Formats: sequence, structure tokens, C-alpha cells
Amino acid sequence: MRILIVGTGYVGTTTGLIFCEMGHQVTGLDLDQRKIEALQAGKLHFYEPGLEELLEKHIQAGNISFTDNTKKAIKKNDVIFICVGTPMQEDGSADLTYVKNVAESIGKYMKEYKVIVTKSTVPVGTAEQVTEWIRAGQKEPVPFDVVSNPEFLREGSAMYDALHPDRIVIGTISEKARASMRELYQGFQCPILETNPKASEMIKYAANSFLAMKISFINELSRLCDRLGINVNDVSRGIGLDHRIGPHFLRAGMGYGGSCFPKDVNALLQTAAANGIPLTILEKVVQVNAEQSLYLLNKIKHSLGGDLTNKSVAVLGIAFKADTDDTRESPSLVIMDYLLKEKAHVRTHDPVVKLEGYPLGANCRQFATTAETVSGADAVVLCTDWDEYKRLDWPAIKLLMKQPHIFDGRNMIDKTAVESLGFHYTGFANH
Ligand code: UGA
Repeated sequence: MRILIVGTGYVGTTTGLIFCEMGHQVTGLDLDQRKIEALQAGKLHFYEPGLEELLEKHIQAGNISFTDNTKKAIKKNDVIFICVGTPMQEDGSADLTYVKNVAESIGKYMKEYKVIVTKSTVPVGTAEQVTEWIRAGQKEPVPFDVVSNPEFLREGSAMYDALHPDRIVIGTISEKARASMRELYQGFQCPILETNPKASEMIKYAANSFLAMKISFINELSRLCDRLGINVNDVSRGIGLDHRIGPHFLRAGMGYGGSCFPKDVNALLQTAAANGIPLTILEKVVQVNAEQSLYLLNKIKHSLGGDLTNKSVAVLGIAFKADTDDTRESPSLVIMDYLLKEKAHVRTHDPVVKLEGYPLGANCRQFATTAETVSGADAVVLCTDWDEYKRLDWPAIKLLMKQPHIFDGRNMIDKTAVESLGFHYTGFANH
């Protein structure tokens, strides 16, 4: 099948390459000329482990090509995946401007039947809207079907997740489109859930919201565990072994970030409010998550004598999680912001992210090595769970620091080991 992927972010690019792996011919369309040039040259414009090798392979084999020619791209492909961004607006709802633009272009340029698939995370009812936008773009009626087919891959393990999904969700009312989607996903070893577009759209929001809820649940519980001297990691393991609960997304820490959970939870809350059905549990999920960085800040402040003025704090990790260069809604940026407001001097490091602009400034500098970053610091705050930070040479770091304080924002290092070196360790109920 000839597949067009509109939008070459990490979802679009990964999806396109996975379809190449399954034997399809793929075109990637983006209006950003620089992205197209980079991708066509086999270079990713974002960091995603393993994906560049796959890109090179399929570029060389001629299975994928990239273009900014919307008209040609729409004409020559049978199935069109919309993978453009749906950023959060002021009121928390998803901005569908890019989706609308794509839908109108499809209407304008299509000359024969197409299956149009929304893979971008879009609010309930968007498939119907896309149908209207396509119709509005058409000069003469040409048949088409719209399918909702949400994506569940994670940044940092995008390729593995896309190749080994837990399930594939296909939401459409058209038998013809459903048959095309079945053919497209032939060869994937997972359940395929067929439903209508609205339910499919809701599944995506419900999945991300549920995972965010698990994180906020364990994070809030970790505060109580802290007070009671209980190790929350043991509690996570203890409840996670119950197969009805499951072990995942129960790692306590400084909260969730990224381009998905914060945006999607807010968008679902917005949908709920607009329909007069408040989702109170989810409101608390957001609140707990927002409090978590502040909770850590207060611990840092308390341990450093109640005043952070001119204290030097090394913040290790800027990305919202390991194996990505994405800093959107990163708890690390939140903690840096708090520290700067408390007049601390921030020294930061990340193996992949290169900060530009705020929070960089006279009181916030980024360093190339962890050794430089911790030099003279009163405290180290571990914010991103990079493997590199799990293997730090703590005896060497202790010699470089002014005061031996470690704040483990991800409960990721061995407390007993660093305490035996003379560090003061603080995690999230990591007793
Ligand atoms: C998330 C979902 O996991 C994907 O299934 C979904 O496709 C994607 O959003 C999306 O909608 O596009 P992602 O944002 O890449 O994926 O990252 P996650 O691995 O889910 O982590 C999100 C945040 O939760 C990170 O800040 C992470 O550090 C935090 N987290 C995760 C915890 O604090 N504790 C945990 O136990 C797990």
C-alpha cells in the first residue's frame, strides 16, 4: 500500500519507518524544509535511539522518501496518516489548527478515494470534524473515509513500542476503510480492537490519563510513606505484583512531564468540563503532579538550612525522561525555575539536551561534563533517569562538592551505597 505520513515528528517518522519494515511504500510530508532535507539525508532532527539506523536503511532501500510537495504527495498515496502536532492551548484544550490545515489540503487535492487516518492525539469528535474539513476543501465530491488510529508509542523506545504494540485500535464506521486498516496492520502480533471513531479517540486519552493517575497515586502515597518511614519502592513492588494492578508506572519521583501526559490529561479535563461531567480524580492527578516538584524543592531548602540564596545546586538531567532530547513540561525545568526564584546558583547537565535561552543566565549555566557540573555544589539533584547517572562515580563527585547532599528526584540510585560514602541522601520515601 502507498502510505503518506503528514508530519515528521517522532510519531510520524516512527510510524512511517515501521510501515516500511512491514513492506509498505511510504512518503513523509512536512512543510518544514529543514526537516525534509535532514530526513532525506538519513538524519533525524530529534533524538530517538535506534531510529536513525532504520531511517538510513529504508532511505537506501528506496522504501521511504520525504517531500514538502503537498499536492503531489496527496495525489499519489492511498492511505494518509495525519501525524501533526496538537499543542495545548491556554484553556488546556488541544489546538487542532494543523489537523484542520491538513484535512483541507486533502480535500483540495484528492482526486480519488482515500483513507484518512488520524494518528495525532485528537479530542473526541475530531474524526467527524476532519470529515467536514475535507468536504469543505473539496471542489467536487470525491469519496473518502476517516479512521481514528491512535498511537501508544513512548519517546525513547518509539521503535520498539511501534513494532511491538500491546494493541492496535481502529475506529471507523466504514467497512471499506476497516478492511484497508486490517491489511495495513497484517503481521502485527497483537489484539486489534475495532470500534467507532469516538471510542477510539477516547481510548487514547483514557490510556494516558490512567497512566498519569498511577504516577500521581504513587507520588502522593510516597509523601505519606515518607512521614511513616516506609519505603515506597517496596510498596510499588508489593502492589505491582498483583496482576490486576501491574508493576508499571508506579515509580515515585518528581512527577510526570513530556509532550503527552500533561497535554492529554488537560485536554480530557477540558472535554469533561465542556460536557458538564467533571472528572474529579483527574483534576487531583494534575494537582498532585504540580505539587511534586515543590515537595522536592522544600526538601532541598530544608536540608540546606532553609535558605537557598547563593547556594550552588547541580541539576543532573534536563530531558523529561531518559533517552530523549525532549524538554517539554520537564520537571527538571520546573525545579530549576524554583531554585532560581530562591536565588540559588544552578549548574546543569544533560547527556543529550543543549539548553538555549531560559533558564540559562548569570545564575544558571550548563556544563559538558557531570564533574564540572558538581564542582563546588552544595547539592546534586537527580532529575532525569539517564543510565549515565545511575553509574556516577560518587566517591569522585564527593571530592568535588562543597557539601555532600544528594536529592534523588527519580529514586534511581542506591541510597545505602551513597550513604556509606558519607552523603546525605534524600529521595521520595526511598527509606
Ligand atoms: C506517553 C505514553 O506512555 C505513551 O503510551 C503515549 O503514546 C505517549 O505518551 C503519547 O501520547 O504520545 P511518553 O510521554 O513518551 O509516553 O513518556 P512515558 O514513558 O509515558 O513517561 C511520561 C512521564 O512519566 C515521564 O516524565 C516519566 O519520567 C514519568 N514517569 C513514568 C514517572 O514519573 N513514573 C513512572 O513510573 C513512569
